[in-house]
Amino acid sequence: MRDWIARGVRAVYERVLRREISGVPTHVAIIQDGNRRYAREQGAEAKRGHEAGAETTEQVLEWCADLGIEELTIYAFSTENFDRPAAEREHLFDLLTEKLYEFADSDRIHEEGVRIRALGQTHRVPERVQDAIAYARQQTAAYDNLTLNVAIAYGGRAALLDVAQDVADGVATGDLEPEDVDVEAIESRLYDGELRDVDLIVRTGGDERTSNFLPWHANGNEAAAFFCTPYWPEFSKVDFLRAIRTYEAREASWRQTRTQRALALVRALGEGRGRRVLDRLGESLPDGTEPIEEAESSAD
Ligand code: FPP
Ligand code: MG
Repeated sequence: MRDWIARGVRAVYERVLRREISGVPTHVAIIQDGNRRYAREQGAEAKRGHEAGAETTEQVLEWCADLGIEELTIYAFSTENFDRPAAEREHLFDLLTEKLYEFADSDRIHEEGVRIRALGQTHRVPERVQDAIAYARQQTAAYDNLTLNVAIAYGGRAALLDVAQDVADGVATGDLEPEDVDVEAIESRLYDGELRDVDLIVRTGGDERTSNFLPWHANGNEAAAFFCTPYWPEFSKVDFLRAIRTYEAREASWRQTRTQRALALVRALGEGRGRRVLDRLGESLPDGTEPIEEAESSAD
């Protein structure tokens, strides 16, 4: 009876939250933490927690498709996770392999047009996982409604180091001029294929850290962050809608801050140089911004 009431209340709350939301983030990145703690609380082995977590991942993918979110990146295996006990590591590799094949063959994935990719040093994971990644990528390569990036053997610093090395090599061989090192030059070297800027980063399980996840695309874009206490297997649609509401509130103030920053830069450096620097940073003054001189005089 109490369960039934709780479910009813949750459904109503979901509808209220859904109505409050007017715009959704384009790219959501999730640190799906708390799987082993969930299992421990249930008196189960750690692997049961990861299995339950994979079910949440499937649900979140459906919510993203329903809401019109264009890209979802999930932290499935970090470079630090290589240090876990062998049995746990191997089980995670088995689970990732199983889920990638399952997703790649799922009718829902094909109906929704979900493209699956992997990010990270995937050459470091066992061949069975690499084969599953290649299969999922190939089966879904033609789609572009929603992109699912599975971060495997991923570490943000490692990704940036790889790019730094690549840029240094390019300059050393003369393929890249130092003055051509701009946002595009970095982004084209970061991942295999384009990745949208992250608008919202979500972490479950109570820790309030973004753990070296997508530093260029999330931190660099000053993504909104939503930290919540439920363990990943418990993460509900209400939690997800709350995260999106946080993004929306943050987005309004962020737009204002960005414009003010860009204006301050153009004022300090002068119109021509200021706009060139903004261009190099991948920033711009929003359309309709008043001419700088006028803005200066009106600020006096
Ligand atoms: C962190 O929780 C999570 C992981 C190490 C792996 C999560 C991976 C999945 C849920 C599989 C999903 C992938 C697909 C393709 C569906 P934790 O182990 O650190 O748990 P704890 O914080 O309680 O210790
Ligand atoms: Mg953890």
